[in-house]
Amino acid sequence: MSKVYVFDHPLIQHKVALMRQTNTSVKDFRELAREIALLMGFEATRNLPLEEVEIETPICKTKVNMLKGEDIAIIPILRAGLGFVDGMLELVPNAKVGHVGLYRDPDTHEPVEYYCKLPKDIEKRQIFVVDPMLATGGSAVAAIDFIKQRGGTNITFMCLIAAPEGIEALQKAHPDVDIYIAAKDERLNENAYIVPGLGDAGDRLYGTK
Ligand code: PRP
Ligand code: URA
Repeated sequence: MSKVYVFDHPLIQHKVALMRQTNTSVKDFRELAREIALLMGFEATRNLPLEEVEIETPICKTKVNMLKGEDIAIIPILRAGLGFVDGMLELVPNAKVGHVGLYRDPDTHEPVEYYCKLPKDIEKRQIFVVDPMLATGGSAVAAIDFIKQRGGTNITFMCLIAAPEGIEALQKAHPDVDIYIAAKDERLNENAYIVPGLGDAGDRLYGTK
């Protein structure tokens, strides 16, 4: 079974609280998403493989640890997942970025795919799938299905707020995928929105409502 990490760091909790507030502006919401992605990404990348290389300092030759290759892919689930890309790229600037386009059908709440473009060598890469919200889990499960169908194997999922229902669905469908969450909320409401949540992440990120 996959591991679930819920962040208890005060900086992350504070920033998530600001994002939840109705009167937080689109500009602030976007900046907070970038900052939280960076803080979460720092921990989520903890197990990236290192290799020993020999370098020369001004004093002498020495052996140091450096990241082994640059085989990382960040894959946002469109569109709200885009809010996490810049923060992750600040940590791993040479990562490739793939995109999976999904939206939830407003009536059935089922994910509908409209776009998928991944790095060619996706099977070699350590993949970070990012999306602020894990509600029913339908979007995350479908996005990871597409990535696996195209050869991706080494996958981590990162989100801002998760409902217990979404965590359970994702763990059941993809027990090999570890999940990093900034905040675990209470439940879903009758419209499959997270309670207390932050509303519609895509609309709040792009000011479309
Ligand atoms: C939101 C969110 C997730 C999905 C989560 O996207 O960004 O992708 O809902 O819900 P689920 O776990 O029940 O699938 P939405 O469908 O609103 O699309 P958008 O990002 O284009 O706004
Ligand atoms: N998608 C969102 O953007 N917010 C929710 O609470 C659930 C799904």
